[in-house]
Amino acid sequence: MNMRKNIVAGNWKMNTTVPEGVKLASEVNEALKGVTPKCDVVIGVPFTHLTAVKAVIDSEKLGLSAENCADKVKGAYTGEVSAAMVASTGANYVILGHSERRAYYHETVEILAEKVKLALENGLKVIFCIGEVLEEREANKQNEVVAAQLASVFGLTAEEFANIILAYEPVWAIGTGKTATDDQAEEIHAFIRSLIAEKYGEQVAEDTTILYGGSCKPSNAKALFAKPNVDGGLIGGASLDAESFMGIVTAF
Ligand code: PGA
Repeated sequence: MNMRKNIVAGNWKMNTTVPEGVKLASEVNEALKGVTPKCDVVIGVPFTHLTAVKAVIDSEKLGLSAENCADKVKGAYTGEVSAAMVASTGANYVILGHSERRAYYHETVEILAEKVKLALENGLKVIFCIGEVLEEREANKQNEVVAAQLASVFGLTAEEFANIILAYEPVWAIGTGKTATDDQAEEIHAFIRSLIAEKYGEQVAEDTTILYGGSCKPSNAKALFAKPNVDGGLIGGASLDAESFMGIVTAF
């Protein structure tokens, strides 16, 4: 039996105040009432919003994600938010390894391995982002880049790895309006799945959800999601508007 899930997840990034976020979450929640999407739907929101958003959504229909968590358990780490804290809000997911965190906050393969471990220990599913920058794509190095980034999750047991959702996000496509073509996405998603098969076997590879992210919108989601190895999307800009986000959800 194929266990692979389709997922459309929003990544709000550092956008919206708490009242604005509660309004947006309520709109998405409302829009989901009348429909049975062919995918799981998740919204990734700032730490400050988690508790308030959790209170206004139907958790049966809409999953809740943080956008980060600390690489330490607890204690004297001023300003950090632990995986246990995230889980205590009722959130079920955390986005880790986003290219913005790698680039601006110097998150390394090793730091991310720690974050992944703590997230899983606290019962969170991890949406783990990988992807190359433009120069790497131009040098045709995308395969080796994603292979190296996967080291953060390839130390897990197969049982732990079942709680990992991968998101391939070419950095050159994030927020740029420049999407990978559906063939480009399919090619690298298939390669990523082959790496999982090498590491954990065919069945685990078949069961792993691999999302595409980077300027995904209602107009291109259908073609991307039609590809056999593209199991949904991680949506930035287009997740900040309930209607466009729902346009992607219903693209399946
Ligand atoms: P974008 O962002 O959809 O705005 O390109 C995607 C992401 O960074 O997750």
